[in-house]
Amino acid sequence: MTESELLNHLRKNPFILAPMAGITDHAFRTFMKRHKAGIVVTELISSDGLEYGSERTQRLMSFDESQRPVGLQLFGDDPEILGRAARQCEEKGADFVDLNFGCPVPKVVKKGAGSAVLKDLDQLKRILAGVKRAVNIPVTIKIRTGWEQTSRNADKVCQVAHDEGITWVAIHGRTRAQGYAGLADWDYIQAVKAASPLPVLGNGDIHTAEQAVERLTTSGCDGVLIGRGCLKNPNIFAQALALHSQTLAQATPIDRLFDELHEHLQDHCDDRLVGLQLKKFASWYSAGYPGASNFRKIIFQTQRTEEILVTAKNFFCSMNENLQQDTSQEAFLMGGHG
Ligand SMILES: Cc1cc2nc3c(=O)[nH]c(=O)nc-3n(C[C@H](O)[C@H](O)[C@H](O)COP(=O)(O)O)c2cc1C
Repeated sequence: MTESELLNHLRKNPFILAPMAGITDHAFRTFMKRHKAGIVVTELISSDGLEYGSERTQRLMSFDESQRPVGLQLFGDDPEILGRAARQCEEKGADFVDLNFGCPVPKVVKKGAGSAVLKDLDQLKRILAGVKRAVNIPVTIKIRTGWEQTSRNADKVCQVAHDEGITWVAIHGRTRAQGYAGLADWDYIQAVKAASPLPVLGNGDIHTAEQAVERLTTSGCDGVLIGRGCLKNPNIFAQALALHSQTLAQATPIDRLFDELHEHLQDHCDDRLVGLQLKKFASWYSAGYPGASNFRKIIFQTQRTEEILVTAKNFFCSMNENLQQDTSQEAFLMGGHG
């Protein structure tokens, strides 16, 4: 896909599924795409793993036509290795390559990858140049606002990215030092976007469709990434797109969503994993509904996949969406790779 084709997709639907390791796998991306995520990105993939031919790493690259436009996200510290990994992505038919410069996890930053690259803009430049040289498809990057509060430099990163021909910069509005504490700083994202010579996507703490549209409009960003918000409300993309384009939202009832998710999981996972994933999603979706904690206890004790499915569908069928309380202030998945 060319850069202008990719940006065209972004203009049509600026609500993007944020990469989440262990969550936005093949099945979940297909599922969210079907429910109107504009663009989807894989979880982070180790460029070293691809270099050494790891089968497990290669499996993370799998996607299908229904997911397009789909980006494969890479992390690493070596421009040459990242370049070769990006070429593998291109050969696989990826629409674009996304580079992870936001991961705060010690194991990753110790090696000079993830958000560690934000501390060294010369190294960032070398990596971007190496990857751009290796592929013809668009290259995008995902960053944090900076390493720590006193050295926030997303504005400078945007300048380097622009000079190196990067297509967009997605900014998770926290520093590396913050981890997942505090709130994403959307004022900062807005200021960076206003001065940025290339498209900027904002990210962090979008819990509802209304917030997604409000963040998009107020920040002036070219798109927004939604991560944890879609785990509690899988209809968030469809609702946000409808609000944005002033059409009627077609929210799918949660019990039907479960059947669909089950189908996608069956296509890609063994039975044990299907059951495990269903339990995880059921427990996330139940947040804020009356009786949710009891439901979670029951579902995690249930063993057979069919039973998990029936238990979850019975629970959600007995609920009305209006009963769901706002749980956005509660700590939820406070760790991840970006
Ligand atoms: C469980 C989990 C895994 C994550 N994995 C990745 C990842 O692989 N790559 C990445 O760039 N960001 C990753 N992130 C960060 C998210 O993409 C996003 O930046 C962050 O969750 C803030 O957005 P949100 O508030 O909408 O969730 C992860 C986040 C979580 C919670």
